[in-house]
Amino acid sequence: MSSNELRKKFLQFFKSKGHAIVPSSSLLPDDPSVLLTTAGMQQFKKYYTDEADPMRDFKSKSATSVQKCFRTSDIDEVGDECHLTFFEMLGNFSFGGYFKKEAIAYGKEFFDSIGLEIEYVTVFSGDKNVPFDEESFKIWGELGIKDIRKCGREDNFWGPTGAEGPCGPTTEIYINGLEVWNIVFNEFYQQPDGVLKNLKTPGVDTGMGLERLAMVSQKKQNIFETDLFSQILDILPGTISERQRRIISDHLRASTFLFSDGIEPSNKEAGYILRRLLRRALVYEYISSMPPQIFESAMIEVIENYGSFYPELKSKQENIIKAYWMEREKFSKTLAKGIKELEKSESIDSRKAFNLYETFGLPYEIIKEFSGSKSSSLTRDSFDEEFRKHQEKSRAGQEKKFGGHGLMLDTGELKAKDDEELKKVTCLHTATHLLQAALRKVLGEEVRQMGSDITVERTRFDFSFPRKLTEEEIKKTEDLVNFAISQKLEIKMEEMDIDNAKKSGALYFFKEKYPTRVRVYSAGDFSKELCGGPHVKNTQEIGRFAIIKEEASASGVRRIRGKIIP
Ligand code: ALA
Repeated sequence: MSSNELRKKFLQFFKSKGHAIVPSSSLLPDDPSVLLTTAGMQQFKKYYTDEADPMRDFKSKSATSVQKCFRTSDIDEVGDECHLTFFEMLGNFSFGGYFKKEAIAYGKEFFDSIGLEIEYVTVFSGDKNVPFDEESFKIWGELGIKDIRKCGREDNFWGPTGAEGPCGPTTEIYINGLEVWNIVFNEFYQQPDGVLKNLKTPGVDTGMGLERLAMVSQKKQNIFETDLFSQILDILPGTISERQRRIISDHLRASTFLFSDGIEPSNKEAGYILRRLLRRALVYEYISSMPPQIFESAMIEVIENYGSFYPELKSKQENIIKAYWMEREKFSKTLAKGIKELEKSESIDSRKAFNLYETFGLPYEIIKEFSGSKSSSLTRDSFDEEFRKHQEKSRAGQEKKFGGHGLMLDTGELKAKDDEELKKVTCLHTATHLLQAALRKVLGEEVRQMGSDITVERTRFDFSFPRKLTEEEIKKTEDLVNFAISQKLEIKMEEMDIDNAKKSGALYFFKEKYPTRVRVYSAGDFSKELCGGPHVKNTQEIGRFAIIKEEASASGVRRIRGKIIP
């Protein structure tokens, strides 16, 4: 059965059992306990804890989905027969509806319906906190399963995805020695102190890797031989090792999906993971002298292959490919030098490795792989520790810049020597936010900040736009800023994580390196930007704003000067 058919078959099966079909949530989760979505249950957590009502949202107490997932913990394993970073998880969920009896029976019935035979199952053997799952043991027996194995907490207990959350014993289904389906009985809520409390609404959470299901259904030796990978692998040259072919296909597939959920390569959080994946693949490309077009073709293959199920891949195709080339371009500037430096280095400890990453962008995985015994003391933990230390240092630096008198802005664009001047530049600063918002309303969303400089006399704002503005556009922009001022909009400041800030639609200056916690300033619904402040409390403090000049600043960049008129 093809993977496309398996997805459909699974969803239809559970629909016929009264489940609501719910689309995959983004790889960037709402749930702050994880960097990326790692399981189908994440978007449903709130239904287990009674914070949301499934009847209101789905008209059912059960749901089913095919969820895009990413597990960073498996990065080092990729290249073998069955590990991946990105994968798709088929799941069915019950929130206070059915429980063990039905969940287990559905598992058996689904495999029967696609002609697969369960080899054996495991159930929770019990420990000092949670008893042996006798009920599941019995149910499997009644369904005719002979080989039922008891396993401990390590294998058969699903823990919360963060410091706390729903959890419980599991039963797992194996086919051809491979764990294919994990069925979790969420009976407890694990508190931050580790204590388990009974959940008021016990439920079911299951997860089956589509890749593994395809492997057993298509009778393949490993996941890379399934139709989920075969076409991508066909594009890669046969001259590189099988392991590298697998890593490249995993990493390019994952990157395509990460891009499609709006993640961009960076040195932080999800963006850092995307960067590592791409750069590792690009090192292989470089070393084997692969033609540069191959990776693009492989990514387009991913979009074609998965696009009918995940429409965001198709609608974002252009952006995905563009963003890929941008990252490639950035990395190619230092890649060759980095590899040379790596070869030259006599021994590589975590410091040196981090230095290679900082200076040349070489990811840890590559440093480890290509330095052999020279890096025997280097471990991922020691590298991550070095990384963390560095981030702390740069955060401390940023805070100094942002804090104190607030005279310096995130872009370093604001200058004042005393309180009176500070009052003036603060007004101009808020006016600059209103200006950017107004320009975007008049000229469109392609307007982005390219630079800004504020003195006591004037603000100077550079932005991306391809042509000279007409008199009318300038007038409209100016009027709009003054309209916003006249609306007496309150300026609100919120502190949040950088990723949430970007997701919230707040504008940010892409040239700026922001700390992980940022401030978002908004003026009513008119403007919202990441910024270090300071700002006026209410737009009415600004007075009247006038555009005094509009001119070219660089190719594709316009410059506006504006001032406050008394
Ligand atoms: N949440 C469970 C898992 O990811 C089903 O395996």
